[in-house]
Amino acid sequence: MELKELGKTGIMIPEIGLGTWRYKGGAQPLRKGIELGAALIDTAEGYYTEEAVGEAISGIRDKVFIATKVSGRHLGYNDLLQSAEESLYKLGTDYIDLYQIHWPNPTYPIRETMQAMGELVDRGLVRFIGVSNFDIDEMEEAQFFLSHYPIVSNQVRYNLNDRSIEMDLLPYCEEKDITILAYTPLDDGNLAKKPSLINSNKMNILDDISQETGKTMGQVAINWCTSRKKVIAIPKSNSQERTIENCESSGWRLSPEEINRLSEAF
Ligand SMILES: NC(=O)c1ccc[n+]([C@@H]2O[C@H](COP(=O)([O-])OP(=O)(O)OC[C@H]3O[C@@H](n4cnc5c(N)ncnc54)[C@H](OP(=O)(O)O)[C@@H]3O)[C@@H](O)[C@H]2O)c1
Repeated sequence: MELKELGKTGIMIPEIGLGTWRYKGGAQPLRKGIELGAALIDTAEGYYTEEAVGEAISGIRDKVFIATKVSGRHLGYNDLLQSAEESLYKLGTDYIDLYQIHWPNPTYPIRETMQAMGELVDRGLVRFIGVSNFDIDEMEEAQFFLSHYPIVSNQVRYNLNDRSIEMDLLPYCEEKDITILAYTPLDDGNLAKKPSLINSNKMNILDDISQETGKTMGQVAINWCTSRKKVIAIPKSNSQERTIENCESSGWRLSPEEINRLSEAF
């Protein structure tokens, strides 16, 4: 498993993490993923999977990087602190590695939200602060009110079928050394479907590259995401077999020519 630096923290994290939105696989697929080096689990208070994650990391907490999120509905100062306490309890841990704001919500003054986030780091309950679904202006405003700590990551949708972050957010994060956690990297499984089921030229090219490299289409799609320096991908699977397949998206690289063919086709 390839590692990448989280933001500019000096902390190395795996380039494949384990997503848990709508996760119903129990402890075993997550444990298998961790064993294969995907020792980063992404959850959220809004997913109702923090308890399952807690079960999967029980006894191996120190080997796993836990990323969770406060809902965009709980961004008031007291609500946010309470959400963090509840996540810690459900996860069965006394610290969260990466605490992310799930989505921006202008109803709450961002100064208040970031003050609470900073306090969690001051109290040792959170190691690093991240955001999710923030645009550049929202990131800059949040950072402005978080004077003592950097925002180390932004979790956003990124896959071959949705490359909108390449317009400005991805270059911005690359320049500032902010990690992108690419969510829905398989486009909810669509990028792993053989073109006989969804016939399109771009899917044929993905299939060709899969055959040429001897990797599955899903692995090629994930490796295309992680070919960008600051991007790590967090696919979700309920199945141990597909979790293994997804973990094996790392440890090799598409060639620049293969990346270009994909980038031109999609
Ligand atoms: N911050 C946000 O707002 C946000 C939004 C969405 C997602 N996320 C995070 O990103 C994670 C991943 O995104 P996602 O769950 O939306 O989509 P995804 O990982 O792109 O796709 C998940 C779907 O693909 C299937 N799948 C997984 N591996 C496969 C493989 N190798 N071959 C074929 N099918 C496969 C899964 O089915 P099985 O489970 O049956 O294998 C599931 O139906 C989430 O779990 C969550 O942690 C964050």
